[in-house]
Amino acid sequence: MGAAWRGIRDLFRRAGIDTAELDARLFAEAAFGMDRLELVNREREEVPAKQLAALQDFADRRLKGEPVVRILGEKEFWGLGFKLNAATLVPRPETELLVERGLEVIGALDKARVLDLGTGTGCIPIALLTEYSDVTAVAIDLSAEALEMARYNANRHGVGGRLKTLRGSWFDPLEPGERFDLITSNPPYIESAEIAGLMPEVREHDPRLALDGGPDGLAAYRAIAAEAGLFLAPEGVLLLEIGSSQAAAVSDIFIGAGFTQVEVLRDLAAHDRMIVAQLNTPS
Ligand SMILES: C[S@@+](CC[C@H](N)C(=O)[O-])C[C@H]1O[C@@H](n2cnc3c(N)ncnc32)[C@H](O)[C@@H]1O
Repeated sequence: MGAAWRGIRDLFRRAGIDTAELDARLFAEAAFGMDRLELVNREREEVPAKQLAALQDFADRRLKGEPVVRILGEKEFWGLGFKLNAATLVPRPETELLVERGLEVIGALDKARVLDLGTGTGCIPIALLTEYSDVTAVAIDLSAEALEMARYNANRHGVGGRLKTLRGSWFDPLEPGERFDLITSNPPYIESAEIAGLMPEVREHDPRLALDGGPDGLAAYRAIAAEAGLFLAPEGVLLLEIGSSQAAAVSDIFIGAGFTQVEVLRDLAAHDRMIVAQLNTPS
């Protein structure tokens, strides 16, 4: 086993991959179905041909520039493992800010109802549901393949019974009159023309539907602002992730749509990262 993964490590080193050793170990663990300790303990054993082929396949993909998380199909978010497919964005650590604020909102309520728009892997509502057992959530995405992952991840973390997944554009799949205490979204917010200039691991491996926010990056915010008021409970809260240069433009969109409370929050790197919006002044 040792010779096999070290051979891959050396290939990666020659290709100039900075994380050659780590990547090779992670691929060996996944291809051989072992944890780190087992890999060490079985160092001298021969690798069965099928497992060797799986390792070689991972290595070939890595050498072509595919990110490790995409190859392993798994990413940690809020301390939970999320399975990925080609239709899902890789959950990002900045988005945990949305979960933190969301927990403050639902923690103050009994039996809160949450709506997550553009759910991808389902990372936002699933993280919230694992923290409060009396909360239910609806997760919407335009991509059926993304929703498959959200369902899988919800079941895996024991919250599948409290997460409803619906396919469609933003609020379209909801019944008129449905109300939510918390609406969350990390929508696509990159300007269409900027996508070509993104890092290759994002540009070539994240789905365009998860990135493309239209010509000025704000299309999703306009669509959400136009209807959010119809589905938000009277003192409900809307939490939206934003691009770091979009705070003023997104705030204006929500103020223009009748939201009276609009606050901008920064992430740990001091970048504007989230908008908190409410229709009514809390009583
Ligand atoms: C930036 S990704 C966020 C995914 C996930 N919430 C996260 O934070 O990792 C945006 C998501 O919005 C979905 N999406 C794009 N346009 C949509 C639309 N019109 N209606 C619903 N979902 C949409 C994409 O498929 C993608 O899953």
